Amino acid sequence: MGQCDVVYVDGFAGPNEYTNPGHPHGSPTAAVNAISTTLSDLGSECILRSVKCYFIEDRRDRYDHLVQSLGSLNPHPRVQLYPLHGTFEDRIADVQRENPMAFSGRYPLLVFADPFGATGIPFNMVRRILESPCSEILLNFDADGHFRNIRDNPTILDEALGTAAWRTEVRAGAPMDMSSRKLVVIMKRQLLALPNVKYVFHFEMQNASNDLNYVLIFASQHPRGLEKMKESMRKMDQTGTNLFSDGSVNQFALFRDKGTRDASQRFHSRFTGRTISGSRGYDEMTTYALNETGDLNPIAMLRILEVDGLVDIKRKQGKRSNSWNSEAVEAVTFLREARNGKAVQGELEF
Ligand SMILES: C[S@@+](CC[C@H](N)C(=O)[O-])C[C@H]1O[C@@H](n2cnc3c(N)ncnc32)[C@H](O)[C@@H]1O
Repeated sequence: MGQCDVVYVDGFAGPNEYTNPGHPHGSPTAAVNAISTTLSDLGSECILRSVKCYFIEDRRDRYDHLVQSLGSLNPHPRVQLYPLHGTFEDRIADVQRENPMAFSGRYPLLVFADPFGATGIPFNMVRRILESPCSEILLNFDADGHFRNIRDNPTILDEALGTAAWRTEVRAGAPMDMSSRKLVVIMKRQLLALPNVKYVFHFEMQNASNDLNYVLIFASQHPRGLEKMKESMRKMDQTGTNLFSDGSVNQFALFRDKGTRDASQRFHSRFTGRTISGSRGYDEMTTYALNETGDLNPIAMLRILEVDGLVDIKRKQGKRSNSWNSEAVEAVTFLREARNGKAVQGELEF
């Protein structure tokens, strides 16, 4: 029997059942099924004592429906379900009281906040959750709703972003897509400014006419967290499996990256002129890959840049020239120009 409890909180759980035939189940059922399957697959390798799932819903009728629908699930024996009636803001404090270890970094905590609508979740709550060193958050950032807030409810946007800086950064009258994406950039910047939050990525959901509809933003304090989140999203992107879609069948474009070649060019521009070495240097490139590209590591980008003559790679003794992972690479110099007969600026330092 393991020693660790994982706490999962769905802060805006909803009724958990929908009449939409394409998406009959809500996020609580999706989470319970995914967790149960994972625990079953792990079998005796599982080191967790329990996964405690809290589902918070404010509206009484939806809460009642949620309780009823949770009763018909058949979770793994180590999964415990706790529906809570009330607001996220109030009830998360109860969850914290019951699980002090999950809010002090001893146990992992994952919060899913899907308020869907113009109100959002106040940034100071996000900050409080991410104060715990093993916590992660998956946020639904309603790009549509927040675009309307620019004109109609600017103070809500101040609260959701935890800053009024957007007021000078978002151009009045700019098109919705451009403004919404700018707001996402600001939100990500705010998250990355929190102590220890080094891994932030967003996944875009488009509506049937390919407009940006809403954005899921994930923030973690450990690279493994973002790796796993990207792997899951990538699977859904390929299968076309949907998350919650508010009653309409949406088209999903979770990853907007234009492919590794495009990413490798941006990667090269970011590091041009520098020599990156050692495991800390490799970590820096990995963080870039995780946060700024669809990839999980810099391997594919380094390969492209080396073939294109845009990097010089020094490998550790005995490592093959066709390996680009952290075990093989000692140092990478990002050249200002390709090494194909053209002048290369600067000496290579290894
Ligand atoms: C978009 S729905 C959630 C859908 C759910 N995540 C799913 O995929 O099935 C948002 C829910 O949050 C509830 N809600 C709104 N404000 C809330 C608050 N402050 N605290 C808790 N629940 C709230 C609404 O009643 C609504 O049911």
